[in-house]
Amino acid sequence: PVSVEFLRELPKCEHHLHLEGTLEPDLLFPLARRNGVELPAGFPQTPEELHRKYAAFADLQDFLNYYYVGTNVLQTEQDFYDLAWAYFNKVSKQGLVHAELFFDPQSHTSRGVAIETVTGGFHRACTDAREQFGITSQLIVCLLRHCPPADCLQTIEDFSKFLTDGTITGIGLDSAEKPFPPGLFVECYQRAREINPDLRLTAHAGEEGPAQYVSDSLDLLHTTRVDHGVNSVHDAELMRRLAAERTLLTVCPLSNVRLQVVKRVGELPLQQLLDGDVPFSLNSDDPAYFGGYILENYVQVAKEFPHWDHAVFAKIAKNAINGSWCDNKRKTQL
Ligand code: HPA
Ligand code: ZN
Repeated sequence: PVSVEFLRELPKCEHHLHLEGTLEPDLLFPLARRNGVELPAGFPQTPEELHRKYAAFADLQDFLNYYYVGTNVLQTEQDFYDLAWAYFNKVSKQGLVHAELFFDPQSHTSRGVAIETVTGGFHRACTDAREQFGITSQLIVCLLRHCPPADCLQTIEDFSKFLTDGTITGIGLDSAEKPFPPGLFVECYQRAREINPDLRLTAHAGEEGPAQYVSDSLDLLHTTRVDHGVNSVHDAELMRRLAAERTLLTVCPLSNVRLQVVKRVGELPLQQLLDGDVPFSLNSDDPAYFGGYILENYVQVAKEFPHWDHAVFAKIAKNAINGSWCDNKRKTQL
């Protein structure tokens, strides 16, 4: 297998990271105290206890129940800044060069936190990361698919200004996948395209849901990228299409293990994706919950695909650069 040092030096891009998913237990408890947020009855009381819960999620929904509690402790602009800054600080030591970052505005606006508070803190951290670490980044608004589509549409409207002034690069769709197919959000994506035709579009699909959700994301929502997407391998026609259209799948190895999508990273269909010439990137999803940041994800893949040499990882890194949403000038630098 390739060495950790090689993987650290490899210029890596991250396309699937939820900023709320970088909230470490060590920060969750002090923030809850500082902001006077009461944690639900029965919630773990120490970081150690919480880490033990995180090690044993039953599925996506079980994780989301913890994730949304964590989200509630974030209140001030400085909280959002501190959260994103802690992330940049960590990955600056892991060879990350470019990050496209999700956040869930509805989780905050539903508690009375203004979108300017959330966006302001995150945006400021992105600016500082560029200055201090040379890491470029973009922000992606994720719609919560368990919420009524009308709420999601309102979120798009509320973000109109940020969708056109360069603050927000794209739209995504996350949360509980299975009873909420992409078709429910056609109007939301259509409205986003109307507001800004250059907006980039992606959606979580094919994590717990079927390959059909991946096809529907492309056909109905007009996404040019798919988050997770690992269930695409069950549809040969779809695989050919992803390869032909150079649609990037943002795969999250450690997440897929922690959420019981697969038992081990080695079971992921990464070889099938390579053989089918389907571009994919490796990502951390919610690193504070799933036991690793970007480098740990690369390292685990290298361990479980020990026959992959430098050329394979160079190709993965190159596909990640090509599938990024930065301009060509920046891609050349990366
Ligand atoms: N899937 C769906 N929703 C999410 C995820 C995920 O991996 N992470 C944070 N919200
Ligand atoms: Zn995700």
